[in-house]
Amino acid sequence: MSRTVPIIAPSILSADFARLGEEARAVQDAGADWLHVDVMDGHFVPNITIGPDVVKALRPHVTIPMDVHLMIAPADPYLDAFRAAGADMISIHPEAGPHLNRSLRHIRSIGAKAGVVFNPSTDPSVIQWMMDDVDHVLVMSINPGFGGQTFMPSQLAKIAAIREMIDATGRDISLEVDGGVNPETARLCVEAGATALVAGTAVFKGGPPQYAANIAALRGGA
Ligand code: DX5
Ligand code: ZN
Repeated sequence: MSRTVPIIAPSILSADFARLGEEARAVQDAGADWLHVDVMDGHFVPNITIGPDVVKALRPHVTIPMDVHLMIAPADPYLDAFRAAGADMISIHPEAGPHLNRSLRHIRSIGAKAGVVFNPSTDPSVIQWMMDDVDHVLVMSINPGFGGQTFMPSQLAKIAAIREMIDATGRDISLEVDGGVNPETARLCVEAGATALVAGTAVFKGGPPQYAANIAALRGGA
C-alpha cells in the first residue's frame, strides 16, 4: 500500500497572537501547505478566538490556502464575511445550522471549497446522500475548543469509514484530521486514509527555528 504524503495545515491557535502575521509567514516558509484558522464563538464551543477581520489581516501575509474552521453557530450569517476576508476553504459543523446542504452549496457559490467537520460523537453518515456538494471533510480527533488535547484513537475507524465514502465517489475530496496530531498519531491518521493534517502544538513548539523540522516530522520525513 502506497503511503500518501499528507498536506500539513498548521493551526494558528498555537501561534503567538501578538505576532500573527510573522507566525503565518514563518510556517509558510517552513513548508506548510495550508494555514488552518480556528474560529470560535464561546457558544458552539467554550472558547472565543477570532473573526473575519483577523483573517483579512492575515491574508496578505501568505499565499497558501487559508483553511477556515468555523466553530460557531449559526454559521450561515458569517460565510460571506469569511470568504470576503480571504478564506479559500470554509468548514462548518452539521450542528451549526438546520440546512447543511444549503450552507455547503452557498460556500461553493461564493467561490470557496465547502467543508464539513465532524465532532468525535458525530456520525458522518449525515453527508452520505450529498457527497457531490462536499469538497473537504475534517474529522475532529478531540472535542473542539482548545489546542493541546490528546488524540482520540476512536476516530481512526471514522477516518477509515469516510475514506471509503470518498473513494466511492471517485472525486478528489480532501480528508483532514484535527486535534492531538503529532508525528506518531499523524502516521495512524494517514494509514487510516487521511490526506491532510491540522497541527497546532506539534508545529509551533520550540518557536520559529523549529517549524521546518516540526512540519517535516509530521510528514514522516524527519
Ligand atoms: C481545536 C482546533 C484545533 C486545535 C488543534 O478546536 O480545531 O485546530 O488548534 O491543536 P493541537 O494540534 O494542539 O491539538
Ligand atoms: Zn481546527
